[in-house]
Amino acid sequence: ACLRKLNTFGVPARAALLIEVESEEEVLALPALRPDRDLVLGGGSNVLFVSDVPGTVVLNRIRGIDVIERTDEHVFVEVGAGENWHDLVMHATDQGWHGLENLALIPGLAGAAPIQNIGAYGVELASVLDSVTAWDREQAQWAVLATHECRLGYRDSRFKAKPERFLITSIRLRLQRRFEPQIGYAGLGEALRAAGAGDHPTASQVRDAVIGLRRRKLPDPALEGNAGSFFKNPVVPPDTAEGLRRDHADLPGWPQPDGRIKLPAAWLIEHCGLKGETTGGAAVSDRHALVLVNRHQATGRDVWALARRVIARVEERYGIHLEPEPRIFGHRTGADEPSGQD
Ligand code: FAD
Ligand code: EPU
Repeated sequence: ACLRKLNTFGVPARAALLIEVESEEEVLALPALRPDRDLVLGGGSNVLFVSDVPGTVVLNRIRGIDVIERTDEHVFVEVGAGENWHDLVMHATDQGWHGLENLALIPGLAGAAPIQNIGAYGVELASVLDSVTAWDREQAQWAVLATHECRLGYRDSRFKAKPERFLITSIRLRLQRRFEPQIGYAGLGEALRAAGAGDHPTASQVRDAVIGLRRRKLPDPALEGNAGSFFKNPVVPPDTAEGLRRDHADLPGWPQPDGRIKLPAAWLIEHCGLKGETTGGAAVSDRHALVLVNRHQATGRDVWALARRVIARVEERYGIHLEPEPRIFGHRTGADEPSGQD
């Protein structure tokens, strides 16, 4: 089966077998899945195929949006893993279920949202997630994981560390009935004021401002294949950030609750002069330095080779090691593999 249309990078890859699952019963009927040979896929917006998939690709297409419980403050909503994330955000805002507005226009499906604890414009999934239901392939049983058991962090979770274990079938969200705008993220307040929304915007005004900012900043995968940010923003000890600031006074940085500083990887990449850099058909986006794009019939190997050049240059110049954000399928973790061995 061809995977080109099933990944937003639009790189060519094949899977020996493709299985769509639409129900929990179909999950139970799946063949055994093996690490590094098989893969569960949602919208394919956070994966890079460096090689073919020798085994099975499971397409999670379990649908359903059900209100489970209403309290004075909250609405608990169970969402099938195969629901489109952005459609869910639109629907929730329209229903008066709040908390997802800042996460509008993130591509992909609901079931992948906990994998890297999706986040944007100052909000992370962690703030609205109640639990995750998954088939635990290691224990061969259903599991309902409360949010704290998911070990969500910045672009991280227990699922990311062991992708072969849990097959997520639904997520339960705890949404607010009263809207409390979160508009502290740089640029969002300004965008709302420019739209005439003032300091007390409605939920749909916040959602639409986020959509507008994202359309302006990020390349559209329909026009130039990509997976959003290709690297995580590095979080470094304060003295590392101070050391860098001595030479680069304009380097931005955001203090984290644990005292460390989050640095913008896009700034580091841009200041290495890498914007527009190409390897084969892959390029560092001219619009946003953190996004690698499929400019011209790139292969997964082109993108991965470019990514490794970016990592090496940033490390050489700033002593900071960038980590990829998407799932990289088909390379040996940590190894600088010679071409031809995947
Ligand atoms: P996929 O790419 O299909 O899968 C990603 C990983 O999750 C894979 O390892 C896969 O095996 C695993 N997986 C998927 N579904 C399941 C399941 N049901 N059970 C178990 N494992 C599963 N991310 C952000 O956090 N913030 C952003 O602002 C953001 N902006 C983006 C902008 C663009 C233009 C693009 C292309 C991507 C962006 N992303 C962003 C990344 C991406 O949209 C998210 O990571 C999204 O959650 C991926 O969903 P998906 O269904 O496409 O996952
Ligand atoms: N910047 C540059 N050059 C650029 C772009 C940005 O120097 O080309 C610098 C600017 O200093 C800017 C800073 O980088 O202030 C941060 O840029 P931006 O606000 O665009 O956010 P980001 O840190 O690059 C993160 C997420 C995005 C998310 C946005 C908005 C990560 C890895 N990425 O990007 O998530 O949408 O914030 O909240 O944390 C994704 O995960 O795929 C993704 C797109």
